[in-house]
Amino acid sequence: MSCSEKSEKHSDPVTEGRWFTEKQFRLGKQVFISQCASCHGEKAQGIVQDWKQRNPDGSFPPPPLDGSAHAWHHPLEVLVQQVNEGGMKLGGTMPAFGDTLSDEEVIAVIAYFQSYWDEQTYNRWVKMNADY
Ligand code: HEC
Repeated sequence: MSCSEKSEKHSDPVTEGRWFTEKQFRLGKQVFISQCASCHGEKAQGIVQDWKQRNPDGSFPPPPLDGSAHAWHHPLEVLVQQVNEGGMKLGGTMPAFGDTLSDEEVIAVIAYFQSYWDEQTYNRWVKMNADY
């Protein structure tokens, strides 16, 4: 990690007051950087500006997972499933991680990208989870 990493747009990750522990966050960060960052960006910010624009082959680019796209619409169970199964079943291109990652790692990796969700997004998600 370098000191120049901070950008104005991106706030620091939040772990306090969230459902996950600091330890899960740290494990999740390792997993995310090695398995997910190439497509979703190191801070889950996405790697393409226009992630709603289809690729020439009709597939979608990887969306940001930092709360600016749709990820917060999905309860934890669904997020776990998305990581385990990937997007191919639904005509997407994201690989499945069910065989590569343990349950613990999948949960941790979700904790990592959720740490970038702002308070408002996170609270909406918590409420939605409760209603689910
Ligand atoms: C090869 C590129 C690639 C890698 C690696 C990848 N993803 Fe994805 N991801 C995508 C794409 C593309 C989508 C959009 C759906 C699709 O096309 O499958 C997506 C969608 C998602 C979604 C659903 C987001 C939403 O808004 O509904 C989640 C959650 C997600 N990825 C998490 C992860 C996690 C966690 C990892 C690492 C363990 C990971 N992805 C690794 C390409 C990737």
